[in-house]
Amino acid sequence: MESSPAIRIDDLGKTFGGLRKRKRIQAVKGITFEVPAGTVYGFLGPNGAGKTTTIRMLLDLIHPTRGNAYIFGQHVHRNHGVLRRVGAIVEGAMFYNFLTARRNLEVLARTGDHYDAARIDALLEQVGLSARAGQRVKGYSTGMKQRLGLAAALLNDPDLLILDEPTNGLDPSGMHEIREFIRDLADRQGKTVFLSSHLLGEIEQICDRVAIINHGLIVREGVVSDLLAGQAQLHVEAEPVEQAAALLHERWPVTAVNGALSITATREDMPHIVRRLVEGGVDVYQVSGQRQTLEDYFLEVVGEAPGHD
Ligand SMILES: Nc1ncnc2c1ncn2[C@@H]1O[C@H](COP(=O)(O)OP(=O)(O)OP(=O)(O)O)[C@@H](O)[C@H]1O
Ligand SMILES: [Mg+2]
Repeated sequence: MESSPAIRIDDLGKTFGGLRKRKRIQAVKGITFEVPAGTVYGFLGPNGAGKTTTIRMLLDLIHPTRGNAYIFGQHVHRNHGVLRRVGAIVEGAMFYNFLTARRNLEVLARTGDHYDAARIDALLEQVGLSARAGQRVKGYSTGMKQRLGLAAALLNDPDLLILDEPTNGLDPSGMHEIREFIRDLADRQGKTVFLSSHLLGEIEQICDRVAIINHGLIVREGVVSDLLAGQAQLHVEAEPVEQAAALLHERWPVTAVNGALSITATREDMPHIVRRLVEGGVDVYQVSGQRQTLEDYFLEVVGEAPGHD
């Protein structure tokens, strides 16, 4: 087993445009986190948050202005040895349009010195392109190119996959398929997958951990289920409503909405709330709870993002 984390990012930062101060863009402002080996890790953030810039630094495609990036414990800078263990798609993979999908993979495999016809067939099959593998890439849809990109990233049987928005351009069923495929890479093949996305549902459904980036800073990091375990929004219909609010407000944040109460609490609080209301002489007509989704959570943390640029 691998003892080092698959990725370690330590105070990593990137500022573009050096000469004129006013034109400088601090794309990434000193971020730190680790990706444990064997996990699917989500890198979530809105457009322009700094996801691609971070990934490019991680792959040694651009140099950081500050900080360091390590893969399997080794510094990435000019480290061909460790980068050989990585497969990646950054901002959409590039292919020869005039060649077929299979031929593109063959060319890539030959340049990478790991040509294996059977493996290419198996990969085409796994990403769902077998039937169209003999067609020129020119006629491929965005989704098909994404699938081909995934096959290309897997050619050298990498231990770590770094995927920048891997489900961009896929329809819902295609997304589902690729999600299962990515999950399987970690669960059955022991690979680590680091993927960026601005789609919350994506991250919520396949990732073990997530780092949320906004304006070049990490605003939250942790196990997806822990981040979501916290709060729920409860909807309570009770009469008289003022009396109900009075009974609860000391312990829980309560707001009255259209004659009902909206309470921020955990699901486990629900029976206590009901008991307190009933014992306080209030009639309870309905109690329902809605778990906070990662989407609500994301909007909340992005909304409260640090303002310094
Ligand atoms: N080569 C560059 N030169 C100047 N600014 C850049 C460069 N690359 C990125 N930026 C800027 O850095 C910031 C972060 O960009 P980045 O592409 O990393 O965001 P992202 O999170 O990948 O966004 P998206 O979801 O749109 O792909 C943006 O403000 C972008 O305009
Ligand atoms: Mg990007």
